[in-house]
Amino acid sequence: MSPPTAQAVTDAVEERRELVNEAIVDALPITHPERLYEASRYLLDAGGKRLRPAVLLLTAEALADVEPLSTDYGAFPTLEGGTVDVMAAAVSIETIQSFTLIHDDIMDDDDLRRGVPAVHREYDLETAILAGDTLYSKAFEIMLESEAAPERSLEAVRTLARTCTRICEGQSLDVDFESRTDVTREEYLEMVELKTAVLYGAAASVPAILLQADQETVDALYRYGINVGTAFQIQDDVLDLTVPSETLGKQRGSDLVEDKRTLITLHARDQGVDVDSLVDADSVETVTEAEIDEAVSELEAAGSIGFAREKARSLVREGKDEIARLPENEAHETLEALADYLIERGY
Ligand code: IPE
Ligand code: IPE
Ligand code: MG
Ligand code: MG
Ligand code: MG
Repeated sequence: MSPPTAQAVTDAVEERRELVNEAIVDALPITHPERLYEASRYLLDAGGKRLRPAVLLLTAEALADVEPLSTDYGAFPTLEGGTVDVMAAAVSIETIQSFTLIHDDIMDDDDLRRGVPAVHREYDLETAILAGDTLYSKAFEIMLESEAAPERSLEAVRTLARTCTRICEGQSLDVDFESRTDVTREEYLEMVELKTAVLYGAAASVPAILLQADQETVDALYRYGINVGTAFQIQDDVLDLTVPSETLGKQRGSDLVEDKRTLITLHARDQGVDVDSLVDADSVETVTEAEIDEAVSELEAAGSIGFAREKARSLVREGKDEIARLPENEAHETLEALADYLIERGY
């Protein structure tokens, strides 16, 4: 069988996205106080690729060795008999994703997210903080609705809690790095593993926990998520420079304005580029396309974008190796192809 095409991967994500979106509406109803719940749902309703829920559902399908989309995610067969609600876990992970985006846009001083004003712009800072907090805690309630065996349910919640702690650690490092000029590539990779890759690690390993897979499988899937999640963030850093805001749904060049340390700028710095002077603007409102274009030309000339892309490719290869132990089936092949898609995507 030939590997799935890029189109097959985007179709697989889209088919699951629709089901995840229906489940989000059920799991996060708009109740009193309406403004808080509307603000909590606002970004979820605005869009989002739903890549992490797709990883979670495909991993469940690969492990259970079922035909893709043939099985009810709400009553999904475990490896030991009985069923669990893997869709609850998928919604929980996407709820964490939305929480982190709301707070990330406050920290990064970004105005645009998923093609609409960021929550703190559409509402206000207080509401955005609370909407993020609400989603953060709701994610734990939702994860507890998987109806897995108690020890598996506890382990899934433990994984989620550790993941959230690590995301905060990573975001803290990300912000600290803005005011440092001596950040190393190793420090960058640690920061990205914490702020971004751990949520992919959770997305890939939680279904294995819930379906009662053995510990080696849980650990291998976690490492798959860490590798492909790190590669995903490197691609996010590339897209920040190269893709128009309208396509990206967020402000192009934001990382340059904020003096973010990325593999691209760290590599350029080591080639003698004065990375903190690449753009003059100190806000995403005043940065111009011409300024960003010029900065990108300089980064390209230094070979820095190519360098980052190559690192992402090597991480994806390592990630795919980690899941070699999964049963050979279509969902497994899609998970491999999805790893490639994470670094080839254009938005
Ligand atoms: C954005 O993630 C946050 C990062 C970790 C870079 P996505 O690019 O998956 O954002 P959505 O969920 O599709 O909006
Ligand atoms: C975000 O990294 C990581 C999160 C935990 C949300 P970025 O700051 O690069 O994400 P974007 O580019 O704003 O989506
Ligand atoms: Mg950001
Ligand atoms: Mg950020
Ligand atoms: Mg980014």
